Amino acid sequence: MRLNFTDVTMTIDLPVLDNTKETQLPEQLLNRKIYVETYGCQMNVNDSEIVQGVMTKHGYSTTDTPDNADVILLNTCAVRDNAEKKIHERLNHLKYYKKRNKDLVVGLLGCMAERLRADLLGEKNLVDIVVGPDEYRKVPELIENALTGEQGIAVKLSRVETYDDIIPLRTEGISAWVSIMRGCDKFCTFCVVPFTRGRERSRGLQSVVDEVKQLWENGFKEVTLLGQNVNSYRDDESGYDFADLLDACANAVPTMRIRYTTSHPYDMSDKLIETMAAHHNICKYIHLPVQSGSDRVLQLMNRHYTVEHYKERIRKIKELMPNCALSTDIIVGFCTETEDDHKLTMDLMRQVRYEGAYMFNYSPRENTKAWKMEDDVPLDVKTRRLNEIIELQNSISRELNQEEIGNVHEVLVEGPSKKNVMEWQGRTSSNKVLIFPHRDELGYIVGDLIHVKVSRSTSATLFGEIVSN
Ligand code: SAH
Ligand code: SF4
Ligand code: F3S
Repeated sequence: MRLNFTDVTMTIDLPVLDNTKETQLPEQLLNRKIYVETYGCQMNVNDSEIVQGVMTKHGYSTTDTPDNADVILLNTCAVRDNAEKKIHERLNHLKYYKKRNKDLVVGLLGCMAERLRADLLGEKNLVDIVVGPDEYRKVPELIENALTGEQGIAVKLSRVETYDDIIPLRTEGISAWVSIMRGCDKFCTFCVVPFTRGRERSRGLQSVVDEVKQLWENGFKEVTLLGQNVNSYRDDESGYDFADLLDACANAVPTMRIRYTTSHPYDMSDKLIETMAAHHNICKYIHLPVQSGSDRVLQLMNRHYTVEHYKERIRKIKELMPNCALSTDIIVGFCTETEDDHKLTMDLMRQVRYEGAYMFNYSPRENTKAWKMEDDVPLDVKTRRLNEIIELQNSISRELNQEEIGNVHEVLVEGPSKKNVMEWQGRTSSNKVLIFPHRDELGYIVGDLIHVKVSRSTSATLFGEIVSN
């Protein structure tokens, strides 16, 4: 699990749930296999689980390979041009499967589906269905129609859909995603999300708390509450805000780890920071995208805050939670960005000292406000600036991890590390990966909380030894 909003690809391999009993299903449906590939952010990861929840209810089973699938769905991202390029390339590969199996149904879901709509149906005679983020209840019906040769499209955005009643089909493991809201009303001038995911709407507080409790009862040890702007969450009926929701979750499952992403700096209230500080089980890690260190650029981006406001929020966070880790998103080369603006971004990075950052070249998106501004920073300048901030961030991350040596962290055990099965890994409350030699005799298992003392580090990883609990 990573808390990043990048163009990562991941496939989802899930056990088959027997929740088909309530509806009578035609025989031929029962053995159909669906394969889902997920691109983009964590909201998409959770949406893929929602789609698979819908599909298993309709008698489908899931598979972790396209080789034996009857239906291949790509859940897509549209945030930057290269995210969409990746999907076009992937579709090229899928031609092979379509040739092999004439009945194969290929579907595009998600933000790129919402953005390009019917244009995608023409794509290489390959795409059978196109479904936007608010229409996932229709996927089974669209697939049925596709099997009779009918292409289908469903891309209406909704003001109310939250999939509140659908049980996502989750991967095994100890960590679960829970979407608490959908859409975004912020309209940052560079961003396509308000167009692909529609208006902001929140689930009711009690329904979220019930889902989190259920996850705990089912053996999950960590939950991440998701939304494009979780801190503008609002339960319309009761008036509860995001701090109330966090507090309610933290109380309902006092030994489960609770995380959330993403927060908008404008809505980062004192009450929210105080609530985080008050609960040990709310992880001390905040992803707080700043985008730029220049007030002029922030205004052009319509971000609704100044650098001073942002720094003041950071001060408050560090005052109440000195060990709280911070990460951010930065866009370089936004319209009119000068060398001085770029230096201001680097200054801010040095002042805040983020544990990590996701850094991107600005990519103009059709229909956004910035689309009409001139994309006037040449690609070579963007790339040079991007490399500069990546290098700066790496050196800050290295320094911060160096300072960790000697610290003891409570770590949630995730299992053997990827490189060496003799070593296991876990994650700190501050969301850092900590690797330690496995000691069978101590009897801990995946999902346990243990204490580990850091003995060395790189810019990306901490290494240490288990200390007595
Ligand atoms: N809701 C979150 C972010 C969603 S998109 C927030 O407001 O912070 C994730 C990140 O992608 C953004 O934070 C931004 O840094 C980046 N991004 C969005 N649109 C972009 C674009 N047109 N070009 C480059 N990066 C972009
Ligand atoms: Fe996009 Fe801005 Fe909404 Fe984040 S807050 S999803 S960057 S419009
Ligand atoms: Fe991408 Fe849509 Fe998420 S554009 S970042 S998948 S909200």
